[in-house]
Amino acid sequence: MRSRLRMARRSLLLLATLSFSAHASATTTPASSAALTLPSFFSDGAVLQVYDEGDARSFVYGTAAPASSVALTLTSSMPAMPFSRTYRTMALMDGGWAFQIDGTYAPDAQGRHAPHYGPFSVTVAAGGERRTFSDVRFGDVYLCVGGEQMLRPVVGAGAAAAAARAPADIRRFEVAAASSAAPSSDVRGAWRIGTASLANFSALCYGTALALARMDPAGNGVGNTTGSGKLCAAHRCTMPIGVIHAAAESTLAAWAPAAVAAKACGGGGSGRFNGMLAPLLRLALRGVVYAGGEADLAAKMAPATYADCFAQTVSAWRDSGQIGDFAVVFTQLGASTSGAASALRLAQATALPRPFAEANSIDTTAMAARYDTSNTSEVARRVALGMVHAAYSKQEPGWGWSSPVLEHVRVSANEVAHGVFLSFAATEVKGGLRLVDRPGCTICCKLGGGALVQASSGGLSGPWHNATSLARMRGKDWVLGARFAAAARLVRVAAGPDADCFLYNANGMPVLPAIANVTAAEQIRLPEPPGILASRESYDAAAITPPPMGFNTWNRWHCWVDERLLKQTADLMVSLGLAAAGYRSLNIDDCWQSQRALDATGRHNGTIDADPTRFPSGLRAFSEYVHAKNMSFGVYTSQSEVTCQARPGSWEHEALDAKTYCDADVDYIKIDHCGGGQWSRNNISWMLFRAALDKCAAKRKRKFWMSCSSCGPTKCLLDGSCVGKPSGCGQWIAKGRVSCDLWRTGGDIQARWSSIMANLDMMQLMAPVQNAGPGGAGIGHFNDPDMLQVGNIGLTILEQRSHMALWCLLGGPLLISTDLKQISAPAVAILKTKGLIDLNQDTLATQGERIGGNQTFGCEVWCKKLSGGRLGLVLLNRSEETSDITVTFADLIIAKAGWTLTDLWTEKSLGKQAKSYTAQAVPSHGNVALLLV
Ligand code: GAL
Repeated sequence: MRSRLRMARRSLLLLATLSFSAHASATTTPASSAALTLPSFFSDGAVLQVYDEGDARSFVYGTAAPASSVALTLTSSMPAMPFSRTYRTMALMDGGWAFQIDGTYAPDAQGRHAPHYGPFSVTVAAGGERRTFSDVRFGDVYLCVGGEQMLRPVVGAGAAAAAARAPADIRRFEVAAASSAAPSSDVRGAWRIGTASLANFSALCYGTALALARMDPAGNGVGNTTGSGKLCAAHRCTMPIGVIHAAAESTLAAWAPAAVAAKACGGGGSGRFNGMLAPLLRLALRGVVYAGGEADLAAKMAPATYADCFAQTVSAWRDSGQIGDFAVVFTQLGASTSGAASALRLAQATALPRPFAEANSIDTTAMAARYDTSNTSEVARRVALGMVHAAYSKQEPGWGWSSPVLEHVRVSANEVAHGVFLSFAATEVKGGLRLVDRPGCTICCKLGGGALVQASSGGLSGPWHNATSLARMRGKDWVLGARFAAAARLVRVAAGPDADCFLYNANGMPVLPAIANVTAAEQIRLPEPPGILASRESYDAAAITPPPMGFNTWNRWHCWVDERLLKQTADLMVSLGLAAAGYRSLNIDDCWQSQRALDATGRHNGTIDADPTRFPSGLRAFSEYVHAKNMSFGVYTSQSEVTCQARPGSWEHEALDAKTYCDADVDYIKIDHCGGGQWSRNNISWMLFRAALDKCAAKRKRKFWMSCSSCGPTKCLLDGSCVGKPSGCGQWIAKGRVSCDLWRTGGDIQARWSSIMANLDMMQLMAPVQNAGPGGAGIGHFNDPDMLQVGNIGLTILEQRSHMALWCLLGGPLLISTDLKQISAPAVAILKTKGLIDLNQDTLATQGERIGGNQTFGCEVWCKKLSGGRLGLVLLNRSEETSDITVTFADLIIAKAGWTLTDLWTEKSLGKQAKSYTAQAVPSHGNVALLLV
């Protein structure tokens, strides 16, 4: 649930695309002699950033005769997966042209669109000329920039070892080390495949690519973390990693956008804006690895100057590049103990007011504990970890691959020790934080050795005081002493100067530099204990609302939402018969908002506004459109200051926002949790929302659904698996004044079998909350295993069937989240399976639970209690082998001799069975769904 800014930046791409042609002249040379030109990046062996599930799309661009017609044809070179598409455009008056390349898909064995990563040949034709470049692949493209660290090539023993370990599919674009005083539209460079001539390539950059390939979090091929590789593998294609090495000895202010050049960053006006990088900023990228350090030390820049410069530079890269979003990982030498090194790191802290939330923020920082060209693996591992985190793992909190992020600082007058509490985001400190000491060292883990912590009693400009007392950990808080507390209004944290002593989390990810305002403990209002809801025995079944069914944009569209898409989706919900099948709520997830309107005092403190470029007609008009189709309408917000995509959140604006939604006749609100802190704070926000939504519901006499994030099991291990009992939140989430109608129980669901299973297991642990007995709160409130991935690339049809059967049996919300324009007939059929929907919507509103089977062999029996003394069963084969699955009736929730069985998929009766039933030859990842009467 920590998906952050990435998609938000992508939204820039949409806007950038609209104005793309207007900007083309900024980075392309006017075509004087009418020749067709392409930057040297577009040549044989090129890797273009894959466009899949909301990623930024790749551009191919160049120049031709003004106003000439330009055509680009992309043709598959794989006979088994034929594909060809031609794009056409016209060169502008300055000759510039550009194509935005869509995702490439070809039908797979089941007739679905499967990703096609190439190889392709690309031909561009204009004015009778033609350029063809072959062996083009789609993959993840990383750009490596920076000075000294990036300039050390792969040499010596390290080179041989790197070459020996290298998978075939790392392709390198090596920018020739040249410098030019005047900016141009191209840099000389060449693509290299294989390990020859590695000696010119950055060791850090190559090492990072190797580490990324080795990590392969989704297990789907070379560094493919998108989760689509499984299908690709069926066609024997893998997604390559493309690394671009564009480091330069000197950086040139002349290349930089004016705002950056004006800062004269780097001292002497030379600027940090790497000239070798500028022409590449029109490419779509997965991430940028930026190495910096010593030059800044030499320049002895003041932290504040450097901070400003640093933020400006990254912002300029991201915004002037027109390429949408990418992650930025900053790496820095850690070996120096000079004061200048500390200043540099404190500058980073100052530059990153809220990592992940600010437009200019660096996604993660990787400290190179020691830089050694013959052994780059540790540095590279950290950079790669940081990169995976920044670029992907926001969607995968279970991975726990995140740097610890300072969440907030509080000064406490009433807690033990009268301390300053530095709280780090919980997901990043699973397994705790620790200071790693140099072997044999007893002093470096004092404050100031392992981490720099400073407080300012004034403002940003200081004066800053070092924290002098020792730190100790308390839960996920890091507690400083009282003396320090007296000075604190602002606190900043950075990695300390000692190379071997950092504050780490369990994965070895060092703490991220950050700055935070200090909150006085008194300001944290504690919630009153929630009231008790009627016991299970006394609830009125007729008053129970079954779990919501509908559509949510997130899984498929992420931030790519707008009015047009949503209207199309509403129309398709009706024409595909999904609305008639019960899917009636159309919910927009993140990214519909722009900012808060100005209040009377001129601050952005007013109502939350729909993004005018995405929803020009406004929320109310859209809501009317949806209601006219006899559907209901949902929106999204976050209970913290910002949403997961850095849109304005609702913290301290709950009543105002609830009124805005009520005025727009919204029926359903998803309240996310990004950046949201502790229970006390969550509870306050939920209570305020609940009160306001209830008021609205009473006025219009219609339920206002409140979907919360999140309430999962207590204890999750580092491998992402969870054990234990429902956590404290399970006691009150559905009760009294908090009373969420539903709440997420696990991480963001991905279109991957392992993710479906992980969320399923979370639900098992949380079942007692929904099924709470006397005095319990659950009935009529729902554990939420997250949206459906049915229809999305990444799951086989068999897996989609099991996903659907299980989600219906669990009895939580059913929210479709796929591209309805492209959805296959089998996927629609899965979603409309009547017997399963009935299982989900049963009036008892219980959650199904795992009751048996032979789990060691991957066979599981899931059972849901239904109205009328009936039962629903899903027999699930989690194993990799076909298997028989037996259910013994004595194990069922209701003990009865003999049941009449109906297959819920086929609606065929299986007759009356006495003691047990065996489903034969259930395929791997398949299921059998049954109704027992
Ligand atoms: C996540 C949430 C997702 C989606 C996303 C939007 O934290 O779990 O379901 O809403 O934020 O940014």
